[in-house]
Amino acid sequence: MTARQIIDIYISFFEKRGHKQIAGAPLVPENDPTTLFTSSGMQPLVPYLLGEEHPSGTRLVDVQNSFRAVDIEEVGDDRHTTFFRMLGNWSLGDYFKTEQIPWVWELYTKELGLDPKRLYVSIFSGYEAIEKDETSYALWEKILTEAGLNPKERIFEYGVEKNWWSRSGTPDKMPAGEPGGPDSEIFYDFGEELYFHENSPWKDEKCHPNCDCGRYWEIGNSVFMQYIKQPDGSFAELPKRNVDFGGGLERLIGATEHQPDMFLTSLFKPTIEKIQKETDQPYEEHKKHMQIIADHLGGSMLMVASGVRPSNKDRGYILRRLIRRSLDHLWELKKDVSIRPILETIAKQYQDTDAVMVEDFEEIALTIETEKQNYERTLANAKKLIEKDLVKGGIKLGDELKGFVEISAETAFKAMSSFGLSPTQLKSLGYVFDSQAFAEKIKEHQSLSRTASAGKFKGGLADQEENTVKGHTATHLLQQALRDVLGGHLHQTGSNITTERLRFDFNHPEKLTDEQIRKVESIVREKIDDDLPVHFEMLPIAIAKETGAIGLFDAKYQEKVKVYFIGGSGEEGDHNAYSKEFCGGPHVPHTSVIQSFKITKQESIGKGQQRLYAVVS
Ligand code: ALA
Repeated sequence: MTARQIIDIYISFFEKRGHKQIAGAPLVPENDPTTLFTSSGMQPLVPYLLGEEHPSGTRLVDVQNSFRAVDIEEVGDDRHTTFFRMLGNWSLGDYFKTEQIPWVWELYTKELGLDPKRLYVSIFSGYEAIEKDETSYALWEKILTEAGLNPKERIFEYGVEKNWWSRSGTPDKMPAGEPGGPDSEIFYDFGEELYFHENSPWKDEKCHPNCDCGRYWEIGNSVFMQYIKQPDGSFAELPKRNVDFGGGLERLIGATEHQPDMFLTSLFKPTIEKIQKETDQPYEEHKKHMQIIADHLGGSMLMVASGVRPSNKDRGYILRRLIRRSLDHLWELKKDVSIRPILETIAKQYQDTDAVMVEDFEEIALTIETEKQNYERTLANAKKLIEKDLVKGGIKLGDELKGFVEISAETAFKAMSSFGLSPTQLKSLGYVFDSQAFAEKIKEHQSLSRTASAGKFKGGLADQEENTVKGHTATHLLQQALRDVLGGHLHQTGSNITTERLRFDFNHPEKLTDEQIRKVESIVREKIDDDLPVHFEMLPIAIAKETGAIGLFDAKYQEKVKVYFIGGSGEEGDHNAYSKEFCGGPHVPHTSVIQSFKITKQESIGKGQQRLYAVVS
């Protein structure tokens, strides 16, 4: 069944049962700065679940485009995607378990034609004062018995980890005022033969519906949203008992086609075939790469269609990460490959459900292609820096080791801190290095910065390096000054600092006027004269973002990120600074160390990018 057919069956099933179809909310939530993307059908309905009256009544049904950034690392296992569509139906204080559970069964077995023998269910086993969900058990027992199936083998009981749902997860993680409740899930069994063959890593494990082996897919979740967390940690009943159902459309396609690899279902297969064609590589040997490419490019396109543009902050950063990650995997398969044919195939796959993918295709494709060019430029600059170091170190570029060039940990570190490249990205550029020494380098620079921040920076570094460190701090000031003068759209697209000068590339449509250059220069000088303190903090990513810090960082490698603050009191915890950037350091301890700053040259480097050169002393 196609996505469109399943959606139509689902909506009309619930319309016949008195539900009003409502429009899905935008992927980018309106008026909700706390959430980057809509990630479930209930998210836009929270006020109504809490008791407010919904203008369309008490029975609602919809399809919600959703994105879960937390699943980025999960993609590549046959059944996870970052972008998905959630089919949802709600009872706002109207029907409850007695209607919902039989409806789910009827819908899945009769309307979507799933084989009852392949279906398993789960119920909530209880938590503190909240008792086991005996009502759902009894309902499932009756349904399964009538279907000639043994309820004892089919109904599984789990606690809060699996059968409790709220936006924040388990009851202990919910803030006061948050609604939640026990849930009952339904699973599709792809059959044990797939997962318990001789070579399966799972063959000695005891499999059950919530096992991670991939044999069972959760295809629907009825949340009985009837509780609200209290400030004292207990739970009170909501004014009305609600049902919040969510079923993943992509998974339902897999179940109706009995296809345990989501990327081989009718929804993704044409895209996978196109990737195979464009890269001249077989899917079977490169599943993970191709799954990531297909998922990430599709997700990126829908994000662009929703108005998100690549940047170094918030939504734009997630989009940038998705595009760059898909390119890393694409280039693993083939170096020189055009992404447009793949984007065209994806757009076609979504035209029946998200017409905007075809209507706005040119703009979507151009945005992604431009980001590809930006990324290629960043990588080329990193390569130049590395090669310069190699030549300096007396290594000929021809010294290749099975197609890889071995570089020093120092050079790898430099490439990382100047261009935000991760070790994996360096590897895909063809460089290998001693990862142990690299990790030590990171530690060494962190403690160097700490010493510097403690005010012990006395030119203990070699003179030449000292100038580079000054240039580095001046670059942060320059970026913020440019943003002050030209606007907050502006961010670094490249940077290169030597002992002689600093070079800073950024996105801006035209060259700066003399007046603007003078203004930027005088702001940086003023910040140097103010002798602002420089300090860094290691912060969890979410908090780091809340500070408004700009710059590239890769959440994959660190749970915490390093943010440099220039200005404010210089005290730990004071984020009220002039400049805030994700950065590896090192930096000067206070700005007057830089002494002087002068912009010496500007160039337009095309594609809306400008370059400035400056010197410090
Ligand atoms: N809100 C529930 C979920 O996202 C249905 O799984």
